Amino acid sequence: MDAVVGAAFKGDAPAASQAVVLPDRRELALVAVERTRMPMVVSDARQPDCPIVLANRAFLALTGYSAEEVIGRNCRFLQGPDTDPSDVEAIRQGLRAGTEDLEVELLNYRKDGSAFWNQLAISPVIDEMGEVIYYFASQKDVTARRRAEQMEATERLLLREVDHRAMNALALVQSFVNLSKADTATGYATAIRERVETLARAHRLLGEAGWSGVDLACLLAAETPEEIRECVGANGTPIQLPTPLVQPIALVLHELMTNARRHGSLRDPSGTVGVEWVLQSQSLLIRWRETGAHDVAEPTQAGVGIRMLEGVVTRQLGGAVKWSWPSSGVCVELEVPLETAE
Ligand SMILES: Cc1cc2nc3c(=O)[nH]c(=O)nc-3n(C[C@H](O)[C@H](O)[C@H](O)COP(=O)(O)O)c2cc1C
Repeated sequence: MDAVVGAAFKGDAPAASQAVVLPDRRELALVAVERTRMPMVVSDARQPDCPIVLANRAFLALTGYSAEEVIGRNCRFLQGPDTDPSDVEAIRQGLRAGTEDLEVELLNYRKDGSAFWNQLAISPVIDEMGEVIYYFASQKDVTARRRAEQMEATERLLLREVDHRAMNALALVQSFVNLSKADTATGYATAIRERVETLARAHRLLGEAGWSGVDLACLLAAETPEEIRECVGANGTPIQLPTPLVQPIALVLHELMTNARRHGSLRDPSGTVGVEWVLQSQSLLIRWRETGAHDVAEPTQAGVGIRMLEGVVTRQLGGAVKWSWPSSGVCVELEVPLETAE
């Protein structure tokens, strides 16, 4: 250690000291390294595997090791399972290239196994012959800053997600506000209210599931009023609808249900609806089959419900709708791609 503070190494001139302190320089330098709150080590480049020859108190406090446990070891003992190998490679390359101010931020571990982010700065100490004889390094714990950055990034992502979901819900609202029709203002308000309630129910189910998707059978049950529950059969393997599909599909089921009660099979006490679904490799297929109705005829003009359903499935979800009108009731086949459901 004497050589480090005593000799005139390359770049080792005191940055600002009066001549009067020079005789004490060696002592002062040691005291400064020892007392600074910045963790520091010096390792000996001339010994095999570059062992630590000096570690200050702050380094021991940061890492939880005693002096005996660190002196003589290469600093890599601070690395652990989640240390990024590319960060270690950056140190390796920097040392090999003789970089003067090598700085790498990497994950290190204390003696008790807890991890911390280490802003590591390494400088070579070079003798008159131009040989690297020591390395001097400081280790700054930047865990708090990294955590704050991480939280900020997560927050930004969350805000973007909330924005995205709100825009999707508003697009649905816009579609039915534009399309809804009724003879009276009260009728119009009811139609809008029922559709908004559908979105709210789907939103609630999503919230209960932590926004990780909703079981299709649950969504269908939520859109099936109590009094017609016995007339609606569901058949399909359990499938979690991806989050972006939940509100649009809830609205589609609401439209079909409303249509069946007003104009289709559920007008008739013996009428039924069967809903089947099949998960295909890229898409979800939902079949809505009404039976038991009499004299169902294909409408001459697409009503509000049909246009809205088509708009949601084709434009918003990029899917396809097929209609058929046997006299016993309408059959609808909806195919919705899953990859648009990010
Ligand atoms: C003076 C000095 C201090 C170092 N301090 C650390 C450190 O705090 N944390 C760390 O992960 N690596 C540190 N290293 C890097 C490792 O000692 C080693 O150089 C690195 O793991 C790449 O070499 P390797 O492939 O032989 O492991 C330090 C290196 C030197 C020369």
